[in-house]
Amino acid sequence: MPVVTAVVSNADGLGSVPITNGTAKPKTEVKQLPVEYYADFLSDAAKARRPGPIRGLLPLEKTPGLISLLAGKPNSAMFPFTSLQFGARDPHSLKEYTLSLDQNVLDEGLQYAGTAGVPALIDWLTDLQEIEHHRNRSEGWRVSVTSGSQDAIYKAVQAIINSGDSLLVEKPVYAGVIPMFESLRSEMTEVETDDHGIQSSSLRQILENWPASKPKPKALYTVPYGCNPTGMTATLERRLEVLELARQHNFIILEDDPYYYLYYGDKPRVPSYFTLEAQTGTVGHVLRFDSFSKILSSGIRVGFATGPIPLLNAMDLHTASANLQAASFSQAIVVTLLKSWGYEGLKKHTENVSAFYRAKRDVFQAAFEKHLTGLAEVTPPEAGMFYWFKILLPEGDSGDSVELIREKAFQGGVLALPGTVFFPSGAKTPYVRASFSLLDEADVDEALRRLRVVILEARGGR
Ligand SMILES: Cc1ncc(COP(=O)(O)O)c(C=O)c1O
Repeated sequence: MPVVTAVVSNADGLGSVPITNGTAKPKTEVKQLPVEYYADFLSDAAKARRPGPIRGLLPLEKTPGLISLLAGKPNSAMFPFTSLQFGARDPHSLKEYTLSLDQNVLDEGLQYAGTAGVPALIDWLTDLQEIEHHRNRSEGWRVSVTSGSQDAIYKAVQAIINSGDSLLVEKPVYAGVIPMFESLRSEMTEVETDDHGIQSSSLRQILENWPASKPKPKALYTVPYGCNPTGMTATLERRLEVLELARQHNFIILEDDPYYYLYYGDKPRVPSYFTLEAQTGTVGHVLRFDSFSKILSSGIRVGFATGPIPLLNAMDLHTASANLQAASFSQAIVVTLLKSWGYEGLKKHTENVSAFYRAKRDVFQAAFEKHLTGLAEVTPPEAGMFYWFKILLPEGDSGDSVELIREKAFQGGVLALPGTVFFPSGAKTPYVRASFSLLDEADVDEALRRLRVVILEARGGR
């Protein structure tokens, strides 16, 4: 397997050679996995997908001098939208200003677009990934715009998983992927996590003891920043070991990172897997999912996948037959906003967003300490919008938070999620997930006061 070209890192005080996480493109040549490497990864469904007779020819419409009789595109002269203006907040001054879509951007937004997205947005996002993740577009990856990151994750697993294939998932795992992985009849293997994110030692143990008779897992699904549901962020040390294992055992890291820009920890942020793979050896094991849902709008449904071209091609073929493309109208709005802000503006905006959630986290923590000290245990998150806390249930209790949360807490006027819904195996757990994104201080205080009453009652007043 790959030769390690640079040793890592410092963000966690580990290793010796500084890691770059940021603004410049790499100076050194990066080794890439060959295109053929992915042939073994593609699912039967992905291998069977062919480009449609129309969409496959659409790029030819751009041939200079060509008259196209090809696509059944509606004539935009008959669309009723003549202009589009919207108000936006400047990330620096926080003042509102008005943005108008350029006529050509509006025309593009009103019409069908390429499967991977509107070219101007793809370009902008490719630049963003180069800047933010310190990668170079010549390294065998590209970007596809999707209808939120959920759409991208769904297409990625469809592209690689056959019925019965093994898939590694964190325990607990984002509940929104469990039905998806189950419907594919993938065999989920749970990898332990803790306050430092995924336990790479658990992953190593699983892989080193993998039965020889059974094909190894094709992918690991992980949420490395502000994990949903645990709120935890994987440390550099863990990420490096996971990457090493991906190279040793040949699996793809599905890096689902919608909370990447919601990092508000005190230490410098840890680089993404997408960054790290280029700084530690051969690239091509990371398929990354970004989302605008938490920073621009969840209703606009724009996310993007970044990763090895053969995998992105397989995902695009799925899109071409499933929904043709992510909405061009949304993409036109997003690219107009992003171009008006520039990369610096987006950075400033994400700093504002993460500061907002940090303040919410602090409010939740204060209320947690006030009402639940001695009744529940927690490690405060440093990213994202979730608290994952352990209820100290009475001795002799089943060890499960389900009844307490679903029934007693609900009757007591609080709604939260019992931890078991995040375990593919449905295992019992005393953990609970609480989201702190929307509530003001008074509601947080009241919610946790109510929870205190319910837990105290379950503990017989102690
Ligand atoms: C971990 C994780 N992945 C993916 C998603 C889906 O996000 P999107 O709105 O981009 O589809 C969510 C949404 O909450 C999430 O928490």
